[in-house]
Amino acid sequence: MQLVRDVEALRTVTAGWRRSGERVALVPTMGALHEGHLSLVRQAAARADRIVASIFVNPRQFGPAEDLTRYPRREAEDCAALEALGVDLVFVPSVATMYPPGFASHVSVAKLGDGLEGAVRPGHFDGVATVVCKLLTMAQPDLAIFGEKDWQQLAIIRRMVADLDLPVEILAGAIVRDTDGLALSSRNVYLSAEQRAKALALPRELARAAHAISTGSPVSTIVSECIAALLLAGFAKVDY
Ligand code: PAF
Repeated sequence: MQLVRDVEALRTVTAGWRRSGERVALVPTMGALHEGHLSLVRQAAARADRIVASIFVNPRQFGPAEDLTRYPRREAEDCAALEALGVDLVFVPSVATMYPPGFASHVSVAKLGDGLEGAVRPGHFDGVATVVCKLLTMAQPDLAIFGEKDWQQLAIIRRMVADLDLPVEILAGAIVRDTDGLALSSRNVYLSAEQRAKALALPRELARAAHAISTGSPVSTIVSECIAALLLAGFAKVDY
């Protein structure tokens, strides 16, 4: 597996693969890989000849009060896991490579990015769209894959790719859950045992709400009941 940190080298390698008729897949990540990320790699590998994974903790998608400095960083372990899965190249750019001095552009997907998580994390989805747009133009893959856990992010990326005519197919990977039902997430490492136990209310209540809605119960009632159940289970607040 090649470890590449600069854009020219990345472009040279992926252009060579494409010239030889090989299909290239990109799996963008922020590292701290778990089985959810690895399932994306496996899904991409089934559809491409060459796999590029990127590891970049993107400062532009973190708000000023968010966890940028303490976000888990485990480059060596991540590279070992990617290599074991047969990834051909891992792209690990620095912040200066992605955002050199004078960098002044951003990609913003209107409407889709405004509500839900966008409403509580202003600027987050502009940061995501900007970095994903850059990674796609840098690696120029035939396909790229994103997890359904971040559903709004996936919708925004699909919109951006369509709007900007980026020549890439976007695939979606299903949520991977721990045995107790909690979705795998790099940020789960922040949870104490007590918080983790409380967090199990989220998949439980979402599943209950989805079932009730699918059997015809009114959405607004079910949403209010779901929020009340989460607060009762120990959630401090429900953002959306
Ligand atoms: O989902 C993530 O890990 C990130 O938002 C992404 C898509 C790699 C962009 O930084």
